[in-house]
Amino acid sequence: MVEKIEHLEMCGITKRFPGVLSNNKVNIHIKTGEVLAILGENGAGKTTLMNILYGLYQPESGKILLNGKHVSINSPREAIALGIGMVHQHFMLVPTLTVCENVILGLSKSFLVDLKTAAQKIKEITDTYGLAINPDAFVWQLSVGEQQRVEIIKALYRGANLLILDEPTAVLTPQESNELIQLLRNMAAQGNSIILISHKLHEVMALSDRVTVLRDGEVCADVLTRETTQEALAQLMVGRKMAPCKREGTFSPGQTVLELQDVFAHGDKGTEALAGVSLTIREGEILGIAGVSGNGQKELAEVIAGLRHLSQGKITLNGKESTKMSPARIIQQGLGYIPEDRLHVGSIPSFNIWENLILKDHNHPPFAKHTFLKKKAIMAHSASLVATYGVKTPNLETATGRLSGGNIQRVILAREITRSPVALVAAYPTRGLDIGATEYLHSKLLEARKNGIGVLLISEDLEELLSLCDNIAVLYEGSVMKVMPVEATNERILGLLMAGIAEET
Ligand SMILES: Nc1ncnc2c1ncn2[C@@H]1O[C@H](COP(=O)(O)OP(=O)(O)OP(=O)(O)O)[C@@H](O)[C@H]1O
Ligand SMILES: [Mg+2]
Repeated sequence: MVEKIEHLEMCGITKRFPGVLSNNKVNIHIKTGEVLAILGENGAGKTTLMNILYGLYQPESGKILLNGKHVSINSPREAIALGIGMVHQHFMLVPTLTVCENVILGLSKSFLVDLKTAAQKIKEITDTYGLAINPDAFVWQLSVGEQQRVEIIKALYRGANLLILDEPTAVLTPQESNELIQLLRNMAAQGNSIILISHKLHEVMALSDRVTVLRDGEVCADVLTRETTQEALAQLMVGRKMAPCKREGTFSPGQTVLELQDVFAHGDKGTEALAGVSLTIREGEILGIAGVSGNGQKELAEVIAGLRHLSQGKITLNGKESTKMSPARIIQQGLGYIPEDRLHVGSIPSFNIWENLILKDHNHPPFAKHTFLKKKAIMAHSASLVATYGVKTPNLETATGRLSGGNIQRVILAREITRSPVALVAAYPTRGLDIGATEYLHSKLLEARKNGIGVLLISEDLEELLSLCDNIAVLYEGSVMKVMPVEATNERILGLLMAGIAEET
């Protein structure tokens, strides 16, 4: 039987990576039934600290006290044995296994025999917490939001009574996020402890009891949630006041740069994911795609980028039909693409930063002459992007996969936006970004619009869509419910359309 975690303390934790002091004498503590939020900018050291608690990393110095006793946690297995569970920022699931298999992976020696009991236990968990999932589905078939649910179930299944969640709602729909918050509240009320990392301050305010703020690897504040405000927290994190970005200036769109006509496509599960989508994006326009994720957004972005076949319909990019073009040809034709899965589709984790920054331009001037890379030009370009986009890294040779979540994001954004595409498809571009970086990205998208780029912005954040877009289309079950000028809509109308309700009754 796992001893219940009444009180846990991390004292004086210091962790270094080559060139970075990730955690510097960090102290945190949490008790039963408490929800502790850990806040901080991208690269502040949040994930590192939690990976230490979960036994993935060993600190150079510092100790962990559990119920007053010194414990050493040398592996996730040992963490789990102590009742500590963790849901990671980047999923750690095996795509070719089913939900059920993933949940019990590593738990039992007789893997196959246990599947039936496991399925039963998973059902109990999913029923109790209202986490809808098909235990027999393969993980590769699941949406990002569903995969996240599997991670949560996995931790619950192992009997965690201290649950660490690293940006759990970054990948959830607003509805799912609310459900999760409810779930976490219930869990805390029943005497579990929760450590939550999130960049969404309203969630932190709604859910946590206490907030510890990290800046550059050090604790810079530890406050009770009821004694602080969202603004105060933002200022603690960033060190300055924040002002949200808004679309300005008149809307005077130019020529059509990207057009979809009656597009049909299948999803990974073989079912129809896009069912007759027609959309037009013009120069200097931001067209928003609102909708609960899983309603065809992923497939929409992929057909435009040439990563998924159309079963019917036509796409025109920059005046040429691109329906059957290769992804490389589509890039040449002027498409910028910020994919949903940035770690695997948007970048190559083992490549270093400069390689990822020129990934799409490595074979032509100014970065290459004949077949030779022009390292000097590349390094100068990369250094300037890293500086402008505030990518936190020891140097340009660092493998991109070693960066913090939000910093990987910045590398891709920097590359895609500075390539000056004709049209830019951005799928959930602010996911995982801290509030400062989100503000910066918004200003970049507005700048792209001003420079005549046609932007397709896929997002679940209605506030974001309403403040940036000229027009908003709602995607529901693979079809466009309606396209509206931003002035003619609001959160309520969008919410109804996102639920598939076309007319108010
Ligand atoms: N395995 C590693 N090897 C080298 N450097 C690392 C490694 N893990 C983390 N770092 C570095 O440690 C610093 C802190 O990273 P960490 O992932 O803890 O940040 P974070 O606060 O979780 O940021 P984000 O909000 O972007 O997820 C970063 O500069 C990162 O590049
Ligand atoms: Mg992180």
